[in-house]
This record gives sequence, C-alpha cells and structure tokens, in this order.
Amino acid sequence: MDNAKLILGDQEYEFPVIKGSEDEVGIDFTKLRSRTGAISFDPGYGNTGACTSEITYIDGENGILRYRGYPIEQIAESASFVEVCYLLIYGHLPDEKELTNFQNQLTRHTLIHEDMKKFFEGYPPATHPMAIMSAMLVSLSAFYPESDDPDIINLNIIRLLAKAKTLAAFAYKKSIGQPYIYPRNDLSYTGDFLHMMFAVPPEPYHVSPVLEKALNLLLILHADHEQNCSTSTVRMVGSSQANLFASIGAGVCALWGPLHGGANQAVIDMLEMIRKDGGDYKKYMGLAKDKESGFRLMGFGHRVYKNFDPRATILKETAKSVLNELGVHDPLLEIAQELENIALSDDYFVQRNLYPNVDFYSGIIYRAMGIPTNMFTVIFALGRLPGWIAQWKEMREDPSTRINRPRQIYTGATARDYVPVQKR
Ligand code: SDX
Repeated sequence: MDNAKLILGDQEYEFPVIKGSEDEVGIDFTKLRSRTGAISFDPGYGNTGACTSEITYIDGENGILRYRGYPIEQIAESASFVEVCYLLIYGHLPDEKELTNFQNQLTRHTLIHEDMKKFFEGYPPATHPMAIMSAMLVSLSAFYPESDDPDIINLNIIRLLAKAKTLAAFAYKKSIGQPYIYPRNDLSYTGDFLHMMFAVPPEPYHVSPVLEKALNLLLILHADHEQNCSTSTVRMVGSSQANLFASIGAGVCALWGPLHGGANQAVIDMLEMIRKDGGDYKKYMGLAKDKESGFRLMGFGHRVYKNFDPRATILKETAKSVLNELGVHDPLLEIAQELENIALSDDYFVQRNLYPNVDFYSGIIYRAMGIPTNMFTVIFALGRLPGWIAQWKEMREDPSTRINRPRQIYTGATARDYVPVQKR
C-alpha cells in the first residue's frame, strides 16, 4: 500500500502512505491543501498524526505501551525512574558509567537559586501547586537563559529534571506553612523528593523503602505516553523555538485539566463524594450513563486505549500491595474496585470500550503515601517530565520540524460593511 486515492469533486488525487516500525499506516497530507484546495478536518486530532517519533509506542486495541521498544511491564518491574529518564531522553538504556554520571549530574543540580524562594512568598496558601509549578518551571528561564549550544541545552535538561522535584516539594511545604527542606545528595531521586516533602525538623526523617519503591513505579508509569494533550502542547510551544522551560511550563498547564492529568485528583474527589453519599456506587454508575447528569466516571475511558490501560493493570495490583504493606485500609479502594467490576460488565461501558485508565488507582496509592490530593497532578507532572523533555528534544533535533499552525473551516459571518454606531 504505497498510495491513497482521494476523489474530490471530479478530480482524483493520490497521496503517499507512510508506515511506521509497528506497521501503523498514515496518509501523508502535507501537500493536501496546495494540491486540492481542501484541508483535512479532525477536531481533537483523534485521527491525525502530528509527527513521527521513536520514543513511545502505544497499541490501544491490545493495551500495549513501550518506552523505546521496552514493554512497560518489564520497565516497571526492574528499572529506576532515573534510568527511564535517560532511556526516554537519550534513546538507550544507560550502561553503568552513563547511569552513574547521569545520576551524579542530577544530584548536583537539585538546588534552586535562593532568589526563587521569594516567588513562593507571593502565593496565597490555598494556591493550587500546579499554578506554582507551571510558573516556577517557566521562571527557570530567568536564571538559565536559552542557548543553541547543545551542551547548554543538555545542562538545562539536567537542571529541569533535578530542580522540578525541589520546586514541587517547596510548593507543598509553602502550602502547609512548614520550612522548606533542602535536597540531600545521599538519597535517590525518589527518596530525596519524599524527604523534601515529609521531613519536619528537628525530627529525623527516614525514607521508607515501601514509599520509595511505590513512588519510583508511579513516576515510571507516567513518564511518557506519545502525543497526549500535554505532550502535544509541549511540541506546539516548542515548535515556535520557545525555550525548554517555557515549553514544559505550557505542558504543565495542559496536564492540569481534569480530563487529562487532573483526573487523578478528580477520581479521589469522586470516590470521596460516593463514600459520603453512603457508598451508593450504583447510583453514580447510573449518573455516568446519563448524558444529562453531567457526571463522568473519572479515571475511566481513554482516547487511545480501547482495552485495559496497561498502567492501570499494574497500579491496581500496586494499590493493594502498598496499602497492605503500609497497613492502610482505605474504603475508597473498595468503592473503586466495585465501580470497576460493575463497569466491566455494563453494556454502556463495554460498548464504548471504557476501562480504568492510569488515573483510576494512582490517587489511592498517593493517599496511602500521605500525599495530599492537590499534589497528585504535580506528581504526574514530575513523572511526565522526562517524556515531555524527550519529545521536545526529538522535535527540536528534527530538521523537518516546522512551526505548528493548524488550519480551520470558517463558519462565521461572510463579508459585510461596517456600520457606524449612530446607524446601528
Ligand atoms: C490521561 O491521551 C493520553 O495518553 C492521556 C494520558 C497520558 O498518559 O497522557 O493517558 C493520561 O489523561 C488519562 C485520561 C484521564 N481522564 C479521565 O479519566 C477523565 C474521564 N474520561 C473521559 O473524560 C474521557 O474518557 C477521555 C477524556 C479520557 C477521552 O475522551 P474522548 O476520547 O474524547 O472520548 P469521548 O468523550 O468522545 O467519549 C466517547 C463516549 C461518549 O459517549 P457517546 O457520546 O459515544 O454516547 O464515551 C463516553 C462519552 O460520553 N465516556 C464516558 C467516559 N468517558 C467517555 N462516559 C462516562 N464516564 C467516562 N469517564
């Protein structure tokens, strides 16, 4: 299949077909408008490929997710989040020397400029930490200016990965009025973040191996997901040659929405609402199927997965094991499991291929770890950071990249003359 035929009016056109390494087929419409005068129309881009990419592969029909070809199940089982950052950004699993050097670089760049602490002081205590994160990540560009020098770009990638968790922890400490906890060089990436989040001087804080392992897994499962809403935003902004920090800050804003990364917080709010309403989950399943209700089963459904989200499968088991290891009993887990059981046998959900997605169980694990609900999407952002960076880097290094500029079909008023206000 080398070409696709298009018949428009009395004209027939042929367009080349491109095929990916997993035999995905795309019709190359880069010359569509110049040859036919027409554009493709695909609101929400559900049927539109924005780019080629070598980073992440998803097979939505078969519930497959691979980072640079490695199945998520194997990565989740055996890799560290720092390894996954290296794999996504630089394209291969690091050898021991590369990993040690990368880890050392991340460790040495965790401090933020002391002047950045002043930025936090202006926020009201109730400020959502995603507002702070987006602003702080963009503000890193004030301290580390853009450069075309590949070494500086790489140093800024290291700075971003290293400082994001410090900024996230500082935002949390600021929101609860506790002193900032500075990074420690003797802890792992995830251990250092837990320490900055939960240490309360002068009490010593010991990083729990259970929490460290759970956070490592959660960050890995969120690390990349091809051209989702926030990653497409990062590519969109980066295509104008905006700097790394500005592009990633835009991705944080896109992730914040409850239909995207904000869903993990919305799932817990939903489960809490059901619990307070006497745990009547059947009532809410009915509301989810009633278009007029405006209620959606948060954490369910996906634009790409029309089968189980493999991340949800892993997180469902992780939720059980982490709560068990921590000795935590959370009634919300039972409600979540009941909702899932009902949905998987209900025609409305089955016919629409609505399965639990990555956000359905993640919030229950975050809760058990003591992470407050308004920090859930910040943790998602910390996990997605290497994916955003890798996609931004791939786009910037692609010589065929052009500034993204979609077209539209205009449906507004046709030409008419201006009428002075006195004559209206
Ligand atoms: C993430 O893209 C990614 O890869 C995202 C992500 C990543 O890693 O980056 O995987 C992370 O964002 C996961 C999704 C988190 N969002 C939620 O859990 C919010 C709840 N889910 C939905 O809002 C919805 O399923 C979306 C947004 C996830 C997908 O939306 P689509 O593809 O636009 O699907 P749709 O809204 O067109 O729904 C199709 C049908 C509709 O019914 P009909 O009009 O066909 O009758 O399914 C229904 C919808 O009403 N539907 C739901 C539903 N999700 C879809 N009905 C009830 N509850 C739901 N959750």
